[in-house]
Amino acid sequence: MNKITVVGAGHVGATTAQRIAERELANRVVLVDILEGVPQGKALDQWESAPVEGFDTVVTGAQDYESTTGSGIYVVTAGLARKPGMSRDDLVLKNAKIIESVAREIAIHSPDAIIVMVTNPLDVMAWVAMQTTGFPRERVIGMAGVLDTARFRSFIALELGVSVEDVQALVLGGHGDSMVPLVSTVSVGGIPLTQMLAADRIEELVERTRKGGGEIVKLLGTGSAFYAPSAAAVQMVESIVRDKKRILPAAAWLEGEFGLEGMFLGVPCKLGRSGLEGIIEVDLTDAEQAALEASASEVRKTMEVLGG
Ligand code: NAI
Ligand code: 2OP
Repeated sequence: MNKITVVGAGHVGATTAQRIAERELANRVVLVDILEGVPQGKALDQWESAPVEGFDTVVTGAQDYESTTGSGIYVVTAGLARKPGMSRDDLVLKNAKIIESVAREIAIHSPDAIIVMVTNPLDVMAWVAMQTTGFPRERVIGMAGVLDTARFRSFIALELGVSVEDVQALVLGGHGDSMVPLVSTVSVGGIPLTQMLAADRIEELVERTRKGGGEIVKLLGTGSAFYAPSAAAVQMVESIVRDKKRILPAAAWLEGEFGLEGMFLGVPCKLGRSGLEGIIEVDLTDAEQAALEASASEVRKTMEVLGG
């Protein structure tokens, strides 16, 4: 891909730009932020690591969108991060204004781009971006499921003392405490997790996953997670850029899938060069379907804060 833009040069954005450059997923990465000098400084610092790390992706910074023109992908991380005691939804009004302004610029400068939304509250910010740009659902996708699933996988691997590579899992639903880790889909080297770990211990890991973002917020004291979030966003970017057609949990605009419509929600998505290339509907148990619907209502409630 010729150019990828990362909007927001904070913790998640800067780390995302660096990971994209180190993997050479584009010829050029543009880092945009409203802070004077910050995106330029971080971009230059990253570019100066290129001779050591051995990548040729040029990273530049900007306050405006002129140099982002023609970007194939915008990873949007602009906004405020959660502070201790602050829920994701507390952020909604402030971040919606930021996302509207960012989305307007994207539509003007790169009308064919794909947006990977990261800013919280994730499912609702993806909706704000889709509404503002008028892009089809194929080109607005939210990052959360890969992160939530990675957290679940990492906890299971630690618990069992096995390689993370052998732990497969799927977390659906909104990016919040109502997310739905599908225990029935978890396998470890092909063996169902339920045959390897007691049900009450599995439930504890599910609970830790649901609160995974908050756990990091509490530990950091200020700001929120960014290493795992940026890794997750870049996995989605890579699947799009390299047309890998990976099946990854991501927030997609639902039009009847899983019996739900009119909201972004985390579901298994096929990601390729065109963006969202399909949603895979999984057979859910009654309890899982009910949990997904409860999670959808949480997302709807936040949409209502914005008059949706
Ligand atoms: P941060 O505070 O380190 O960085 C945010 C950056 O956005 C700041 O540099 C700020 O100047 C910039 N910004 C604010 N308004 C802007 C505008 N109009 N245009 C361009 N840049 C603007 O925050 P961090 O840790 O990077 O998190 C960013 C967002 O990502 C937060 O909303 C956070 O909650 C969310 N997040 C979402 C995750 C997910 O799974 N979806 C995971 C981790 C973070
Ligand atoms: C997380 O899950 C803050 O949404 C962010 O870490």
